[in-house]
Amino acid sequence: MPAPALLALQQATRAHQRAHGCNAHTFEDGEGLWQLVAAHQPRRVLELGTGLGYTACLMALASSEAVVDTLEGDAIHAELARDQIAQLGLQQRVRLHEGSFSVTLPALQLQAGSLDLVFFDGNMPAFVLVQRFHSLLAPGGLLVATFMGPGMSWRIAGEPFDEHRVGMNVLAPGASWDDGGPMVLHAPWWLRTHWGRLFDVVRLQEHGFCAAPGDGHGVITLRRREVSLTAADLERPDPDDPREATALARQCPAPSR
Ligand SMILES: C[S@@+](CC[C@H](N)C(=O)[O-])C[C@H]1O[C@@H](n2cnc3c(N)ncnc32)[C@H](O)[C@@H]1O
Repeated sequence: MPAPALLALQQATRAHQRAHGCNAHTFEDGEGLWQLVAAHQPRRVLELGTGLGYTACLMALASSEAVVDTLEGDAIHAELARDQIAQLGLQQRVRLHEGSFSVTLPALQLQAGSLDLVFFDGNMPAFVLVQRFHSLLAPGGLLVATFMGPGMSWRIAGEPFDEHRVGMNVLAPGASWDDGGPMVLHAPWWLRTHWGRLFDVVRLQEHGFCAAPGDGHGVITLRRREVSLTAADLERPDPDDPREATALARQCPAPSR
């Protein structure tokens, strides 16, 4: 169970996010994350998106030998997080790397199979990043990621969610990570089918992250499967699922006249 000091840090993050209207949305299921980390006891953890340090510190406290490398691009968040990490006495085990993911992640020079847990509650990880996480994880390693699913359809696509029209629909192709990255709407069935070729799905919460039930992002917890697949293998539609064709048709740009 998260310690009172962690709950205070989560409250401080909520207050900071409200005051600044920034993207430091703190992870709401701290209890679930604590239980997962306490049960799995990862030693090598990578987090993309420190915020003010809540989840990085939580993971370090739930797994007493964990070293958490956490990446943060916002200078104010990084400074506040460093203070919080120091207050909890975790400077030796929570290492904050300041800068854009596109710079700090390659700079870490992580080896294949070198991580036990990857945590990403920022913008939706793109397909290529999911493959990268799979290769960085050791056998049995876990990936916890948020995704934009049914609860985000109105907000980013302006229409109700329809699982026959959505598989993996890219709404802002080519947007740089520094501009928030591509906006990708994912159907839970699509994640199970396609990411499920690389990972076993441990848990899939369709919506309710940082929001009321039915609204907001989803959260998926995955365990690495020992497979080696190409991008083509992962993208290949499931011929037995009619939603693949209807979702793909929706994704294709209309022909220009
Ligand atoms: C959802 S918040 C992280 C919240 C934190 N995990 C918690 O539970 O309190 C996402 C963080 O990622 C950072 N971020 C978003 N895109 C980034 C990028 N491309 N490079 C570096 N940091 C980024 C934001 O500044 C923000 O602080």
